[in-house]
Amino acid sequence: MSENLATVAYLGAAILFIMSLGGLSNPETSRRGNLYGMVGMTLAVLATVLGPRVDLGVGLPWIVGALAIGAAIGLYAARTVQMTQMPELVALMHSLVGLAACFVGFASYVDTSIVYEGAEKAIHEVEIYIGILIGAVTFSGSVIAFGKLSGKVSGKPLLLPARHWLNLLALLIVIWLGVQFVSAPSIEAGMTPLLIMTVIALLFGIHMVVAIGGADMPVVVSMLNSYSGWAAAATGFMLANDLLIVTGALVGSSGAILSYIMCRAMNRNFVSVIAGGFGTGGGAVPAAAGGAQPAGEVTAVSASETAEMLRSAKSVVIIPGYGMAVAQAQHTVYEITKLLREKSVNVRFAIHPVAGRMPGHMNVLLAEAKVPYDIVLEMDEINDDFPDTDVSIVIGANDIVNPAAEDDPTSPIAGMPVLQVWKSKTSIVMKRSMASGYAGVDNPLFFKENNRMLFGDAKKMLDEVLVALKS
Ligand code: TAP
Repeated sequence: MSENLATVAYLGAAILFIMSLGGLSNPETSRRGNLYGMVGMTLAVLATVLGPRVDLGVGLPWIVGALAIGAAIGLYAARTVQMTQMPELVALMHSLVGLAACFVGFASYVDTSIVYEGAEKAIHEVEIYIGILIGAVTFSGSVIAFGKLSGKVSGKPLLLPARHWLNLLALLIVIWLGVQFVSAPSIEAGMTPLLIMTVIALLFGIHMVVAIGGADMPVVVSMLNSYSGWAAAATGFMLANDLLIVTGALVGSSGAILSYIMCRAMNRNFVSVIAGGFGTGGGAVPAAAGGAQPAGEVTAVSASETAEMLRSAKSVVIIPGYGMAVAQAQHTVYEITKLLREKSVNVRFAIHPVAGRMPGHMNVLLAEAKVPYDIVLEMDEINDDFPDTDVSIVIGANDIVNPAAEDDPTSPIAGMPVLQVWKSKTSIVMKRSMASGYAGVDNPLFFKENNRMLFGDAKKMLDEVLVALKS
C-alpha cells in the first residue's frame, strides 16, 4: 500500500472513530456507533500492516502471531466475562495501553535506526519521557483500580501522611530527571533518569488510586480511561503515527469530559478526587467509619405484599442498582413493567449517573431487556417526581438512594446527589441483607417509616412478585 493510500485510509478511520463516538452518545444509536468503531479499527490495522512502514517480509510472522494471540484472548474474555465484571476488564485493558506506551517508549529510545539531531532529538526525547510517564501512571493506577473493583484490593482509601507533599515532591523530581534525561550525552546515560522516573510514575499511579475511596471510584475509572487515551496519543508521537495521535486524543478528551460530567453529577471537585481521599473527613478516617449510624426498626415485606402494593399503585418508579446486575434481574423487571403498564400503571425507571459499576451500566442492562428508552429517565429528570409517586422500588441499589448524602454532613458520601425515593408514598428496597453498598456506608433509608424491605436475591424475589401479580 502506498503512503498516499495509507494516509487516506487513516483519514477514513479517524472519521469513523469520530462517528463512532457520536453514535455511542445515545442508546438508540450506540449499536451503529460500535459498528463504525469496528470498521474504523479494521481499516486502521490493515492500513498500518499493509502500509509503507512495515516490512512484511520480516514482520509478517510477528504480526500474525500477535494478532492471533490478542484475538484469542479478546474472544475468550468477551465470551466469558460477566456483565458485572466489565468495569474490571475495562480497567485491565487501560493498564495494557499504559504498559504498551512504556514499552514503545523504551524501544524507541534504544532504537538507533533513525538518527535524530538537535531540536528534533530533544523533541523526540521529550515525547518518549512524557509517553513513558503517562503510560506508567496509567498502568499501575489501572492495575490498582482493577484490584479495587474486583475486591482483591480493599475499597477503602489508604491515605499516607502528607500525601499531597509526597505528590509534589515526586513531581519536582520527575521534572528534574526529565532535564537530566534530555541533556544526557548517550543512551546509556539517559537510561538511569528514565528508569528512575518510570519507578516514580508507577508508585504515583498506585498512590493516586489507593487514596481514592468509596463512591469516588467511577471518576477514577473514567479518568484512567482518559489517561490511557493520552498514553496512546504519546505512543503515536513516538512512532510518528498520525492516526494513533488522533485516536488517542479522542479517547483522552472524551474520557476527560466524562470524568468532568461524573464529578458534576456527584457534586465532587475534580481536583479533590484526583488528589485522593475526598469525603473522608480530613483524611484519616476510612470511608466506612464516617457518618452517623442509622438505627431503628426495619419493616420487611413479602413478595405477594409487594405485588399488592404495585397493583394498587398509579405511579411506580423503579430504581435499578448494582444488585440488579448481579442477579441478572433486568428481564423479570421488564416483565413486571409490561404487566403493570397493561394495567395502566405509570411505570418509569430512574437512573443515577453512577448506578452499578460503570458509566451507563443500568442503561445497557435495560436496553438488553428491551425496556423502551422513553420510560428510562436520568436522575435530574425524575427526582422532582418522587412526592407524586405511589411506590418506588429499589432493586439492588444502595448508595445511590442513601438520604445520608443529603442529611448527614459527616457522611463519607455527603454532598453526592441521590435519588430521593423516601419522598414517595412508599419505597420498597430489594436486597439480600442489611449490608452496605460499594461506599461502605450504612443507609438510613431502610429505617424510614414509609420504607419496606423485600429481602432476598433480586431475581428470585422479582420472579415471585411476577407470579403474584399474574395470579
Ligand atoms: P451499591 O451501593 O454497591 O449497592 C448494591 C446493593 O446491591 C448492595 O447493597 C447489595 O446488598 C445488593 N445486592 C448485591 N447482590 C444482590 C442480589 N443478587 N440481589 C439483590 N441485591 C443484591 O450499588 P448502587 O446503589 O448501584 O451504587 C453504585 C456504587 O458503586 C456507588 O457507590 C458508586 O460510586 C460505585 N461505583 C460506581 C461505578 C460506576 S461508574 N457506576 C464504578 C465504580 C464504583 P446485599 O448484599 O444486602 O444484597
